[in-house]
Order: sequence, then structure tokens, then C-alpha cells
Amino acid sequence: MAAVNTTLQNAKRVIFLGCGTSWHAGLVGEYLFEELAGIPSEVEYASEFRYRSPIIEPGTVVFAISQSGETADTLAAIREARRHGAPVFGICNVVGSSIARETDAGVFLHAGPEIGVASTKAFTSQITVLFMLALKMGRSRRVGAGRGRELVMALRDIPQKIARILASRERIETIAHRYKDSQNFLYLGRGLNFPVALEGALKLKEISYVHAEGYPAAEMKHGPIALIDRDMPVVFIATHDGTYEKVLSNIEEVRARGGQVIVIATEGDTEIAKKATEVLYVPETDPLLTPLLTVIPLQLLSYYIALHRGCDVDQPRNLAKSVTVE
Ligand code: AGP
Repeated sequence: MAAVNTTLQNAKRVIFLGCGTSWHAGLVGEYLFEELAGIPSEVEYASEFRYRSPIIEPGTVVFAISQSGETADTLAAIREARRHGAPVFGICNVVGSSIARETDAGVFLHAGPEIGVASTKAFTSQITVLFMLALKMGRSRRVGAGRGRELVMALRDIPQKIARILASRERIETIAHRYKDSQNFLYLGRGLNFPVALEGALKLKEISYVHAEGYPAAEMKHGPIALIDRDMPVVFIATHDGTYEKVLSNIEEVRARGGQVIVIATEGDTEIAKKATEVLYVPETDPLLTPLLTVIPLQLLSYYIALHRGCDVDQPRNLAKSVTVE
């Protein structure tokens, strides 16, 4: 344990490896580690990692993120990182899995068995673990005791805030019913909510078979804006944080082109309702924790759209729970 602590405390750079939803969690981790711990961080698709010439200097710590612990691409990337001499920590859900056994140390998510093919509770658990790791590393670097306590208290409030979002599922179902026949969706968010936009789009593709793309909201004007018309619902994540005003102007750009706008906003933000076609509210939390809340209405939206389209939400076509081939 002491050796693990020393490795983490001395880390000069962090690389997150993962695939799919676990890669999205790694992207959240990248933002959190930079913000809280001030450590240069990057997230890599495990499937691409060993086909490049990864530069792994001394002091680089690798975190392999995987719900199943059996993803072949992630296992291969771990072996590559270890070949370069990097310490590799696992963040897995399945105890005794191959990744848990092949890593130097790690954390189990303890999310319980995830049965549905589309990863949901593993995603929020991965973010929670990454948040706690970033905070732990940050406390010995740049996060003071007061701010640390504040963040821990905010984290403790998350479960009851998620319960409040789940209680609004009827409203989410109504919106899902309205948009169930749309053929394309765009998901936009900035900062920590950019990975959530990617995850929302992935969930919709996986279980509803509806084409969806996630983008950083500001990238919209560099291409995707050409797609916007009345038939293209755009899901924005516009919670109260440093990017709020900018996201508002992105929403206006979409509205000006006739796009239907579904916004995930912070409770109490009545102004945004004037700019959106639909609003789904999440309770206020520390901006660093918003992904844990904003992803829930997106998971539910996909779930209800899939149900209304008659899809099997647990066992979508062509997908396996763990991808054990490269
Ligand atoms: C998530 O909904 C997907 N089924 C998929 O992207 C998954 O996250 C990916 O295959 C990685 O799986 P893992 O977390 O078990 O390694």
C-alpha cells in the first residue's frame, strides 16, 4: 500500500486507458486530474494505444478502466504499458477479472453485477473512483483541507440527488415519446460535460439504434451545424459552470436554424426554458461532480426511446457485454 501511495504521489503524468464508456469515464478523469491534482493527463483508446509509439517516461502512471476487466484491447494496452515499465492500476468492476489480475494494484468499483449490455452504473462508479483518486492526489498538491471537505460533502449528497432525477422519469419518458421517431441526434456539452455528451450519444446508438453524435458544443460551428434542421434534435448539457454562457449562445445558434433543443439544466434555471424546446433539470452540485448527475437523464432518455421503438434494452443486437476479441 505504501508503495502504491508513493507511486501516485510522485506521478508526473497520468494516462487513462479504456474503450467505449470506460474511455468516456477516462476523459472525465483527464479533466479531474488536471483540475484537482494539476497532473498532466491524457486518455487513450486502448485499441489504438499499442499501434502508436507511446512515449512513457519515468513517472508516468497508467490507469486501465474497465467494467468487465476482460476487454481484449484494454488488456493488450496494459501489457504494452507494462512493457515500457509503467506502473498500471486497474479500475474494474469485476473482481478476479483478467485486468484485475494483470495490473499492479487497483480499485474495484463495487457497483454490483452490471447485467445490461449498455454500461450505466459502471460509468457513474468509474467517475466516482476517478474523482476520489484525483482528490486524494490533489490534497497533497494543490487542494486545501477546506476545499477537500467541501468536495467530499458534495460527493456524499450525490446519491439523493440522483434519486431526485430518477423521480422525474415520467417527464423524461414524455420527451422520449415525442422524439422516438427522430433518425439523428446531436449531443453537445463543454468541459466535463463533453464526455457526458459522448456517453449520451453512445447510449442512444447502442440501445435504440438511432444515429447520434457527441461533440464539444463549440465544435458545432466547425461542421455539425450544417446538419441542423427541424428533424435534428440537439441535446445540450447546460448546467451552471464556467461554460454556461457560451453554451447558451450555442443553443441560440441551433434555435436560429430551426433545431429542436432538449436541454439538461440546473434546477432553478427558469431562463433557459425560454430558449429550449424541452428542459430536463438536475439538482445543483459542485461543477466537478456534474457528470454524475447530467448523465442520468441521458441514460433514461435512451432507455425510454429504446422502449418506445420496441428495442431490447438489455441485450441490444450485435453487442456483447465484454469484447474479448481485438
Ligand atoms: C458501453 O455501454 C458499451 N457496451 C461498451 O462501450 C463498453 O463500455 C466497452 O466495450 C468497454 O467495456 P469494459 O468497460 O468492460 O472494458
